[in-house]
Amino acid sequence: MGDFLLEWYFWVKALHIMSVISWMAGMFYLPRLFVYHAERGSNSSELSETLKIMERKLMRAIINPAMIATWTFGLLMVFTPGVIDWADIWPWVKAAAVLVMSGFHGWLSARRKEFARDENTRSGRTYRLANEVPTVLMIIIVIMVIVKPF
Ligand code: HEM
Repeated sequence: MGDFLLEWYFWVKALHIMSVISWMAGMFYLPRLFVYHAERGSNSSELSETLKIMERKLMRAIINPAMIATWTFGLLMVFTPGVIDWADIWPWVKAAAVLVMSGFHGWLSARRKEFARDENTRSGRTYRLANEVPTVLMIIIVIMVIVKPF
């Protein structure tokens, strides 16, 4: 198994990065749609119904599969011999940031379902702030995997 993972390591990493790009694209875009939805999409308006379709498709066709692919290829690399030294600190910081990112994914999913039922209670400002969460996490993760400062 270890030899197999070593042989395919760079392909797995390439697939991991493609999945990460897709996941992040969705995580940046969905809260932006929620800003429009909260500020301009009054219940059952034409705009609101269009936004519901866009949000559902973005979540189901891009964000969910991309998160599963990111985790799958990421864990394959975790199990590749010699890739991660758990005595270093950076893998723990990355793991923590990735767990928060996954939790934020769950939070966005719950908010999407509220919008779909016309039950959103949050303001556009909340979703503007929410937009910053994946940005900050992405910056931390990329510094951890590339610079490996500790
Ligand atoms: C979802 C769970 C994740 C797991 C289990 C995981 C695991 C890994 C592992 C083991 C590596 C190889 C590290 C190395 O070769 O030094 C890696 C590389 C990488 N990861 Fe992740 N990762 C995950 C999510 C993410 C996320 C969310 C991002 C960005 C926002 C990300 C960005 C990267 C990048 C850019 C690399 C390439 C670093 C290099 O050039 O070696 N990963 N990941």
